[in-house]
Amino acid sequence: MFKLLQGISSRSLASTATISSCIIFTDSNIAGTEAQSKSPQKKVKIEKVKASIANLIDEDMKNRNDGTSLVGTFVRLAWHQAGTYDKADDSGGSNGGRIRHNPERNWSANSGLGLAMDKLEKIKEKHPEISYADLYALAGIVAIEEAGGPVIDFKLGRVDEPNGDNSPAEGRLPDADKGTWKGTIQHMRDVFHRLGLTDREMVALLGAHSLGRCHTYNSQYWGPWTLAENTMSNEYFRLLVEERWTEKHTHNGKLWQGPLQYENSTGELMMLPSDMALLHDENLKTYVEMYAKDEEVFFRDFALAFSKLLQLGVPENKSWFQFR
Ligand code: HEM
Repeated sequence: MFKLLQGISSRSLASTATISSCIIFTDSNIAGTEAQSKSPQKKVKIEKVKASIANLIDEDMKNRNDGTSLVGTFVRLAWHQAGTYDKADDSGGSNGGRIRHNPERNWSANSGLGLAMDKLEKIKEKHPEISYADLYALAGIVAIEEAGGPVIDFKLGRVDEPNGDNSPAEGRLPDADKGTWKGTIQHMRDVFHRLGLTDREMVALLGAHSLGRCHTYNSQYWGPWTLAENTMSNEYFRLLVEERWTEKHTHNGKLWQGPLQYENSTGELMMLPSDMALLHDENLKTYVEMYAKDEEVFFRDFALAFSKLLQLGVPENKSWFQFR
């Protein structure tokens, strides 16, 4: 049913956002321009919400004026909202909007995401009909499109919970280092297979690290993965394969005090131990090399995997969307 339509937005955030038109399929296959959320009275005008999010990203980037943007943080928000899912008992996941409540909001893995949620309050005020959970997922999709990435199938229908009582125990989101390549790889597989995702989907999703950066005040890690952190591309994979990565020992001329991470020859770019681990497993490395060579295949796989990720834990709803 999912059909990928290649991204049409510009590769630069500096240019005006292209808002995709959208076709809605319902049970009776009626096309329209609006969709019904859980309550039939409340109609989410999805193109308008998307335009508002794109505008927020552009405005915020202008205000920052330092080459960074909300793009990476919005993608990370959508991923962390969904990444708590457990296929064994259908707990956690993208439904419920629990990430805005404690305890999830305060989990160390979610450090820095409060900023993204606070920024999106403005969009929620303007479009109160969209649930927080849908808004956080949609922000990730708009961010990918704004960064010139693929157009991604998206379904509305997430329903907010009033508090974090149904949040799973902390510890479902992945750590970047388990001490050994073997341990880190096993941990990554444990997390992504628990989500119901394959090795290939895991590697494709990690390509999102072409966007954004690590912030010492959030994770203790530092730096961007690529030289174009607002542009979705296969650079993460190309750099992983082609650069010479060594352990980071200094930062701005001083001793590096943070956890083990890797840097390229100029020290401008970084890789986490979990990124480097992809090169230490034959199966995972095959996908890294494939995506490094072929951005089109990466975009296609990423779009399918990200759409699947954002749908985890969301009860099947009747209407669904296809953007183009
Ligand atoms: C083994 C799996 C993963 C690990 C260990 C990991 C770890 C991290 C860490 C430590 C950061 C830095 C956060 C900060 O300091 O602000 C980060 C950022 C980021 N992650 Fe991941 N990540 C993983 C998977 C993913 C996946 C699956 C996605 C998306 C599909 C993703 C998207 C991002 C993005 C876009 C950023 C940049 C955030 C920003 O610029 O604010 N990550 N990740």
